[in-house]
Amino acid sequence: MQLANRVSQITPSLTLAIAAKAKSMQASGMDVCSFSAGEPDFDTPDHIKAAAKQALDRGKTKYGPVNGLPELKSAIADKLAKDNQLNYDPEQIIVTNGGKHSLYNLMMALLNPGDEAIIPVPYWLSYPEMVKLAEGTPVFVTTSEANGYKITPAQLEAAITPKTRLFVLNSPSNPTGMVYTPDEIKALATVILRHENLLVVSDEIYEKIIYDGAEHLSIGAVSPEIFDRTIISSGFAKAYSMTGWRLGYLAGARELIKAASTIQGHSTSNVCTFAQYGAVAALTQSQDCVEQMRQAFAKRRDVMYALIKAIPGLTCPKPDGAFYLYPSIGSLGLGSIDFCQRLLDEAQVAVIPGIAFGTDANIRLSYATDLDTIERGCDRIHTFVRNLR
Ligand SMILES: Cc1ncc(COP(=O)(O)O)c(C=O)c1O
Repeated sequence: MQLANRVSQITPSLTLAIAAKAKSMQASGMDVCSFSAGEPDFDTPDHIKAAAKQALDRGKTKYGPVNGLPELKSAIADKLAKDNQLNYDPEQIIVTNGGKHSLYNLMMALLNPGDEAIIPVPYWLSYPEMVKLAEGTPVFVTTSEANGYKITPAQLEAAITPKTRLFVLNSPSNPTGMVYTPDEIKALATVILRHENLLVVSDEIYEKIIYDGAEHLSIGAVSPEIFDRTIISSGFAKAYSMTGWRLGYLAGARELIKAASTIQGHSTSNVCTFAQYGAVAALTQSQDCVEQMRQAFAKRRDVMYALIKAIPGLTCPKPDGAFYLYPSIGSLGLGSIDFCQRLLDEAQVAVIPGIAFGTDANIRLSYATDLDTIERGCDRIHTFVRNLR
């Protein structure tokens, strides 16, 4: 069948494909240790589920405003003011079908054909595809393990051209787990402000999952000038373990949000109405659940990091956010796809090839799973790597 040209420009999500293969192996009775998931393994906290159930019982089953329930938009505005020192009016916020959809709306609302978007490598795999779907041009900037996989101000400056419209910043990062320090964020803001036409989208979906006293500074809070150039993308999936609810949001300049809302109005309309009541409960009720999950992730990170670091041939900076490790397999002489396929087939461990995130010399391990699986899976990786060498 003849399909639209845009389809040939993009690649299917490798992370979803590997997670699906691991799940089907598990379903057929195999003992697979899966480190492929990009989602917390916890159930959504009860009070959030209760709020959505009550909304269903109260008949909140109809269409709602395209850009979100007023009570949810004001809860998001309050959260951004309190947690991030960002003062948005509710009209500067749109509720979307997940953080992925916020970013997609943004690209569609902002980019013209040929506009460049700077994406540090390794990147979350959907950024380049979304830029291409919007007919923009992804411009990749390769970061180094020595610099914690973070883009430097000099690298950002060097990548900017008269066509650059957007810089995509993701901290804490998927896939590396790295968190930019406040000083690093300020230095990037200085570069951005030197270029009149340049905006930054800050994907802060992992902001609540940080360790060892790492500080999350939202770039928009650095100064009023950078606030005007910043778009915030976030969601409920990771902090509240609500991946299947499909709830995210975008905050930015009124004109841009209005444009995103027009696009959403002709594509998905409002996010599931009763689910939005769950999100209101998530933001306005106790945050203890977020802290409990964060502490569980912190423990798992320590265990997995120690086990991976002990494997000769793998190197890995210690991440201070999200729930991923991104070790280098560069010394082992296998590409990341071969490594992952063989690891799954020969040792029944599912991890994601770094090529999906732009670097073929790495693999991504998610520790959003129980400690027993972490210990058994890392042990298998150790044996597998030993036998390769
Ligand atoms: C960096 C990053 N941004 C955005 C998202 C989108 O999350 P969701 O659409 O589930 O809210 C993800 C999900 O994996 C992510 O890792």
